[in-house]
Amino acid sequence: MRTAPQAPSPPATRLRGLCLNFLLVFGCNEGTPSGRGDPSAQSVSKGRGTLAEERSDGPSQSRGPIELSLEARAGSWEIEPGRRVDAFTYNGTVPGPTIRGRVGDEVVVHFKNSLDEPTTIHWHGLRISAAMDGSPATQRPVPAGGEFEYRFTLPDAGTFWYHPHVRESEQMERGLYGAIVVEGDREPEVDADHLIVLDDVRIDSSGQIAPGSSRDIYPGREGNVLLVNGRRGLELNARRGQVQRWRFINVANARFFLLRLEDHSLQVIGSDGGFAEAPRTVDQLLITPGDRFDVLVSATGEPGSESTLLSLPVSSVRHGHGRSRRGHGRSRRGHARGPSRGDVGDALLRMEYSMLSPLPAREVTVPYARLPDLGPEGIQPTVIRLGDRGCCGSGRFTINGVSHPNVPPQVAYVGQTQVWNVWNDTRGPHPFHLHGYFFQVLGASAARQPVRAWEDNLNIPPGEQVRIAFRPEGRPGRWLYHCHILEHGEHGMAAELVVIDRAGAEPNAPIDSRQNAEQQEQM
Ligand code: C2O
Ligand code: CU
Repeated sequence: MRTAPQAPSPPATRLRGLCLNFLLVFGCNEGTPSGRGDPSAQSVSKGRGTLAEERSDGPSQSRGPIELSLEARAGSWEIEPGRRVDAFTYNGTVPGPTIRGRVGDEVVVHFKNSLDEPTTIHWHGLRISAAMDGSPATQRPVPAGGEFEYRFTLPDAGTFWYHPHVRESEQMERGLYGAIVVEGDREPEVDADHLIVLDDVRIDSSGQIAPGSSRDIYPGREGNVLLVNGRRGLELNARRGQVQRWRFINVANARFFLLRLEDHSLQVIGSDGGFAEAPRTVDQLLITPGDRFDVLVSATGEPGSESTLLSLPVSSVRHGHGRSRRGHGRSRRGHARGPSRGDVGDALLRMEYSMLSPLPAREVTVPYARLPDLGPEGIQPTVIRLGDRGCCGSGRFTINGVSHPNVPPQVAYVGQTQVWNVWNDTRGPHPFHLHGYFFQVLGASAARQPVRAWEDNLNIPPGEQVRIAFRPEGRPGRWLYHCHILEHGEHGMAAELVVIDRAGAEPNAPIDSRQNAEQQEQM
């Protein structure tokens, strides 16, 4: 099932690719000038802690839990060599440690909050119990100095991430996020497996991360420095003939990344919930906040050449098409002062080809998913209308006309298919995120999703209605759904889904999120 038989690859070659993974994500700085890789990032997993080594282990039965300590604490973040900003970190690094495991692994996280403010950890995309979800629907924030033990089993293969769910627009802007990579039984045999975490920060004239302002609420806060894995100017190596897997995560508050890799197309093989049903090849890939994409890159460049991964301007997708909004968008953009140099795009990272002789071309087998059909048969869709009211400054966002925490929850039974019409009734886009369950996109709106895949995060363009379906397979509890432009979610565009098991009561009483919200606003 793995490598095409006609193109066996020498183990040494494969290893080299895997070491590149090391270089990018773990900072094994072999032969590279310092500061190029990611020297401070750590990774936590079983055994000796690399995807490469685990992959060659074969199946292992006697794996104990993945146990790690995570401490949220103030720290210093080197966004490029010699340039440091005050930050919030997990264990002193941005991104926090990458958690690597396999489907079925148990994870135990001893979390300590050493910030001066409350926080939680949400495990974005992991289908775990509501009590461990870290959202304001299920967990009171861990106070300053407090501790909490998160414990769950990794349910699905794919790329996920973790971040706080308290005052997200500040805490995440300041650096609180980390990646989770989960391998399944069958993974494509690739020459390198790179994690590419996309972010931006807004650096003010003092050289520090600017505090958020009320002017950021409507457009969402975009930064003026683009980062990959918490750094500027990252490079990765390639050798002609390789097939590399790039796992993208957009952790930015509000920035839409429209990616293009010079001289290469991107083969999208999966998204939020793992492999898609089929591949699709694109020249540009839009990744909105909260999204993940799993991409194969065929290294077709000449030895010694280099290609840049570009972030293209997105004003038309990002700021909507409505006339009044456009003017609005422009002035906001002026305010946000993106780093854009016009139509060329901004460099995110450089792919550098070695002088080594090309590897023979080969096919990589991907275990594409097959999704059950959750098509609506006589199901009257629930309308989820994303709205806004007021205009500027202190304006608030709504769901069905009401702002969080006052939106009445949606209620669903375990096993009952839900069909939601998510309707963006505003003039800007909203990346919609559902906690706890993956959904699929149905019907005409599937035009936007030419290939089906499980999603937990989906951009809804202005004016559009997108029909999604999901089936809570268990895990009753209170789950949040919200816009993943963090300023929007925080200012009203959030609500709860209460999943009830047939037998009876929901497992946790509502948490007084109003109280939480007030606490947050006071800070
Ligand atoms: Cu990525 Cu409710 O979150
Ligand atoms: Cu939004």
